[in-house]
Amino acid sequence: MKPKLVRTIAALRRETARWRAEGLTYAVVPTMGAIHSGHTHLVTEGLKRADRVITTIFVNPQQFAATEDLGKYPRDEDGDVRKLGKAGTHLIFSPAPEEMYPAGAATTITLSGPAKVGLEDRFRPHFFDGVATVVAKLFIQTGADFAMFGEKDYQQLKVVTRMVSDLDIPIEVIGVPTVREDDGLAKSSRNVYLTKTERQQAIAIYRSLQTAAERIRSGINPQSATRSATRMLMVQGFKVDYVTARNAESLAIPQHKDEPLRLIAAAWLGKTRLIDNIAV
Ligand code: PAF
Repeated sequence: MKPKLVRTIAALRRETARWRAEGLTYAVVPTMGAIHSGHTHLVTEGLKRADRVITTIFVNPQQFAATEDLGKYPRDEDGDVRKLGKAGTHLIFSPAPEEMYPAGAATTITLSGPAKVGLEDRFRPHFFDGVATVVAKLFIQTGADFAMFGEKDYQQLKVVTRMVSDLDIPIEVIGVPTVREDDGLAKSSRNVYLTKTERQQAIAIYRSLQTAAERIRSGINPQSATRSATRMLMVQGFKVDYVTARNAESLAIPQHKDEPLRLIAAAWLGKTRLIDNIAV
């Protein structure tokens, strides 16, 4: 099925108004394009919950720092449309930057809570305000019933979930479990940058988290378990940004023994930065 492609908010709303009139529900999958199997999996999951799926393609300038090259972000709209059509997306919303941020746009969302816990925010300080602003706009523009987000970007998932609750946006955010390669490495568009040797080493990030989770379950304290995981990664040649145990909802440093925990890691292997997380 070839999905319909719309570029304006008005055209998007004409399509969704038709669905609503027919009593259909719909999910949105926000993306920046460069569609891979992680995205198409979100479409598949969206189709399990809703009658229709919208995928948005927008490379959001607001979440790039001045030092990050927005112009170099991979773009292949024809390829994306083909892959999304195959996955079953009904509608693609791919607006120009001027449609999303017309001249004079002056409102952004400022976050605290899970957006300010010293994880990704420590390395990309403006990132989540930019993400929250564009995601809030996409939720309002689409008026979708469900929003599909991968658990792989765990902090993003928690930031968006918190924002929806705080701003009373009538949409249900669905966290979709990470899709993994056969050996357990989390699927990511960045994996293609790994050399053959690095690809073999890369699995250590998931294994170190699994080992830490097992140790915590057996009674070892989380700090000690994540310190060992950090050492394990360093021995494997990683430059570690963080390996940490956090409250699974607030992402705060755990204070009590019986809190639900999430182990979260970010580490460099050569020139590639990998992230992963698992439940304890
Ligand atoms: O995860 C992404 O691709 C982006 O951060 C998102 C959610 C599409 C917002 O631009």
